[in-house]
Amino acid sequence: MYHRSAKITPAEYESFKAFLQQACGILLGNGKEYLVSSRLNKIMQDAQVESLGALLKMLQSAAHTSLKVKVIDAMTTNETFWFRDIGHYILLKETILPDLNLQRGSSIRIWSAACSSGQEPYNISMIAEEYKLVKAAARPVQIIATDISSKMLEEARAGIYCGLSVERGLTQEQRRKFFVPKERCLEVKQEIKRRVSFSSLNLAGSYHGLGKFDVIFCRNVLIYFSNELKRDIVDRMANALNPGGYLFLGSTESINQLTNRFEMKVGHGGISYRLKS
Ligand SMILES: C[S@@+](CC[C@H](N)C(=O)[O-])C[C@H]1O[C@@H](n2cnc3c(N)ncnc32)[C@H](O)[C@@H]1O
Repeated sequence: MYHRSAKITPAEYESFKAFLQQACGILLGNGKEYLVSSRLNKIMQDAQVESLGALLKMLQSAAHTSLKVKVIDAMTTNETFWFRDIGHYILLKETILPDLNLQRGSSIRIWSAACSSGQEPYNISMIAEEYKLVKAAARPVQIIATDISSKMLEEARAGIYCGLSVERGLTQEQRRKFFVPKERCLEVKQEIKRRVSFSSLNLAGSYHGLGKFDVIFCRNVLIYFSNELKRDIVDRMANALNPGGYLFLGSTESINQLTNRFEMKVGHGGISYRLKS
């Protein structure tokens, strides 16, 4: 039986780093053995393995795909909150949606590319709902929300938030406008949920079948990847955008050194990157 105090050998740590990078692009720095131990503790106990090396052996076997999903779930950082980087949402409402509504077309398509527990795509839908109130003939908005973590996708699809997760970032008025009470928690209203469809997607893998987007939110996830993977993702996102489409990154993330296919647009306290023609 595994004990948290069981030491991870340097060789095990290197193999685990390689596994994680290959499986989902996440680059573990040196000296994070404690993080690995604490995040995998329960999984290793449940799997009754004594060492990280033994867990890695199981992960290599095709019979243990659900174990691989659990390990990836445990190793992702899912921190998020409502209206994170509020400037992005104001830009969306005040500049981008009006601009896209000047163009003809059916639905406006927005991709929330690392949606965690759903706050980001639901916030986009809330903005679309508010925009519809000022422009009744607005083009419908369709939001594709993806993440690698099956646990986060399950929470996001349910759209039920309790305790601190309904406190962070929402005003009383937004809670009343966009949620209905559900036991001691709040559930996102159907008209907000309706625009969002969730699916599993590894950003390090293929984007085939997603179609083209007008806006992509790829926030607070590139930081976990190597520069090479960041460049590859940003380039493939540029390919997935319609001409003149917009990309949002997290406020601490920068597109400099990754690509020159975008021009920076600043306004309303937020930065977006517009695909150059
Ligand atoms: C810190 S959260 C960011 C959530 C949200 N975008 C925000 O800014 O608040 C990072 C998310 O990226 C997801 N993630 C990590 N690696 C991924 C990958 N290779 N493909 C897709 N999603 C990934 C994690 O599961 C997690 O939900």
